[in-house]
Amino acid sequence: MLHEVKVFAPASVGNAIVGFDMMGLALSRPGDEIVARRSERPGLHITAITGDEGKLPYDPEKNTAGLAASSLLKHLDKTGLGIELEIHKCMPFGSGLGSSAASAVGGAFAVNVLLGSPLSKRELLPFAMQGEQLASGGYHADNVAPSLLGGIILIRSNRDLDVLSLPVPTELYAAVVYPEVEILTKTARGILKTEVPLKQHVVQSGYLGGFMAGLFCSDYDLIGRSLRDVIIEPQRACMIPHFYEVQQAALSAGALGCSISGAGPSMVALCKGDAIAAQVGAAMQQIFTQAGIPNELFLSAVNAEGAIAL
Ligand code: HSE
Repeated sequence: MLHEVKVFAPASVGNAIVGFDMMGLALSRPGDEIVARRSERPGLHITAITGDEGKLPYDPEKNTAGLAASSLLKHLDKTGLGIELEIHKCMPFGSGLGSSAASAVGGAFAVNVLLGSPLSKRELLPFAMQGEQLASGGYHADNVAPSLLGGIILIRSNRDLDVLSLPVPTELYAAVVYPEVEILTKTARGILKTEVPLKQHVVQSGYLGGFMAGLFCSDYDLIGRSLRDVIIEPQRACMIPHFYEVQQAALSAGALGCSISGAGPSMVALCKGDAIAAQVGAAMQQIFTQAGIPNELFLSAVNAEGAIAL
């Protein structure tokens, strides 16, 4: 058995613009690093957390990475094993980049690798979801599934955790800009209306289907015509300062589509090619910077691997 492993679990874009709570994609960076090592002291212990500004608890049952790891150990009947976890947060909290999901994925994945990978990545999904649920309060796999498995994921059913990997056109890139504005996921979910007018459902279903067809055919024009959100974006845009200006700047610079990443405040633009993504990212940043809002740009191809051992 291995003595120590270090894993990387990537950030992700929940909703992927078109599919609220049912679609998400993995980024190459940023992401969290989790170390798991064998120890003489029985039980699971979190021994170090960095990059969290003292915000995260060391109690494994109250920590997303810890709970994901401990629920896996319970399932494997290995709760007596001595295991130490180190959590290195390398991305902002409450950013719309799936920070808690990355930690949850990292916790379950690291312990699984340490134990010689008794479960497949897909089999780890329910354990990572338990960790994520602790932080988000909801049960939606649109960040956990892409962080774990990579690629663009359609969640056919959150209840059954039936998740499907969609084809990723080779030139699809993401420009994600994180403005330093705090939005709690619980707040961003709390403001949403619980009913969707039939007309909006019909329009959005067309966009979701069009986006998926575009992925299968690598049809960037179709992807561009489909990357829209008529249901969630109008309700959440007011939480992100200068949202519509940033969106317009991205589209004018050549983005296929631009909207909120997850529950925000990050904004994501999907683009054809890394050069356009760089231009789009710079145009988005310029709006926030001119408004005096500190921000950070992450440029990334869609990450095909998801969580990896380093
Ligand atoms: N699908 C989720 C939302 C992602 O938009 O609220 C954030 O957890």
